[in-house]
Amino acid sequence: MFLQAICVRQNGVCVFFTFAGKLNAVMYMLSVWSANSELPSFPQLSNDKKTDVLIVGGGITGLLCAYMLKTHGVDCVVLEADRICRGVTQNTTAKITVQHGFIYDKLLKRCGTEKAQMYLCANERALQRYRELCGNIACDFETKDNIVYTKQNRRKTEAELRALETLGAKAEFSETIPVPIEIAGAVRVPNQAQFNPLKFLAEIAKGLEIYEQSKVFEIRDNRAFTAHGTVQAKQFIVATHFPIFNKHGGYFLKLYQERSYALALENGPKINGMYVDEAPKGMSFRNYGDLLLIGGGDHRTGKIGGNYGELRSFAKVHYPACAEAYVWATQDCMSLDGVPYIGQYSKALPNVYVATGFNKWGMTSSMAAAELLRDRIVGKENDCAAVFSPSRSMLTVQLAVNGSTFLTGVLTPTKKRCPHLGCTLKWNPTEHTWDCPCHGSRFAEDGKLIENPATDDLKK
Ligand code: FES
Repeated sequence: MFLQAICVRQNGVCVFFTFAGKLNAVMYMLSVWSANSELPSFPQLSNDKKTDVLIVGGGITGLLCAYMLKTHGVDCVVLEADRICRGVTQNTTAKITVQHGFIYDKLLKRCGTEKAQMYLCANERALQRYRELCGNIACDFETKDNIVYTKQNRRKTEAELRALETLGAKAEFSETIPVPIEIAGAVRVPNQAQFNPLKFLAEIAKGLEIYEQSKVFEIRDNRAFTAHGTVQAKQFIVATHFPIFNKHGGYFLKLYQERSYALALENGPKINGMYVDEAPKGMSFRNYGDLLLIGGGDHRTGKIGGNYGELRSFAKVHYPACAEAYVWATQDCMSLDGVPYIGQYSKALPNVYVATGFNKWGMTSSMAAAELLRDRIVGKENDCAAVFSPSRSMLTVQLAVNGSTFLTGVLTPTKKRCPHLGCTLKWNPTEHTWDCPCHGSRFAEDGKLIENPATDDLKK
């Protein structure tokens, strides 16, 4: 192999040409969804407005909240700092399922049957809502089984199966899976779904009142302030991935972020389902058309992890004839107990709501959040809300880990510091970015903000 790779940067996208017997073009960091969908664009906010509900953030959560409220006759406005769906939404692996790892056994043991049932029920309703909406939208929606496997501990599989049965969910045991991984057992939940989220959201966004390039820098006296206009509202939803208002709610201690990576391989085998390891650093698999999507390489943002290298090594061994068509990375907010925070932002802010901490299950969780927050705003009781309450008890080991990472980050003496809360930044040699281990803000080499909770570029 005499030519290994040439990278040509175009509009922030790196187009990779590799020579491996034939010439392939690989769009670096452009997900399969971004490359195969077109999103509508919206104007910038340029005057003062009044509405019932202002939603800050135009990712999947913000758009679904707006859609749900609008279909209930509630007037709402979405303000997006960049373009809609340009953050985590475009970089998902797009699985819609109630089965979020082996969560139900843990929930039953930690919170009891009632709360575990709430979690299942909210996600079943979300799946059902997708089914209804996607019936009228061309978004490559397909019903597929979801399978969570374990490589080592068969007893875990049996416990999860029992938990699902206790809660009345259909599930079955599988001895094998059609991906080249030796497993100790797997739990299969039938009739879940996969889709192209950007094709779906392009339709959902039509007819919503959205303003792009309209960064909210403050909410005060029931008014959100942007550079060129304000929006007065009765209620607010913060749907900014990581909540951007630090004074309330303690989200800088209750959340951290993890990066994970994905490859789309041309002409991979058809695996007829969605597969994911229950282990935190395991791999995931699904098809999209003729492509095989492989996810994994996870690590806390700002720390070392498996990265693209882990996925490429796996693909080289097991799928040597499949060329990379797309390569991308994403970043997820992780809560302290594996359950999202959906509800009142903090006790001090009675008319502000939040939806965050989806723990890598953003497709289903965002729809669950939209239904829960719609009900809260229109004054309808939702029997699943309690398990997601952001003010629930948070005394966990992860809280101590987050606290000590923050202290270390703040006290480490370096020049490059994060504008969020002042932690030291780490250079990410793979993605050529400055990453913050404390809460996951990221910046391009030239200091431009890529991921929140920071809201500003690095100072020159
Ligand atoms: Fe919070 Fe950097 S993201 S200090």
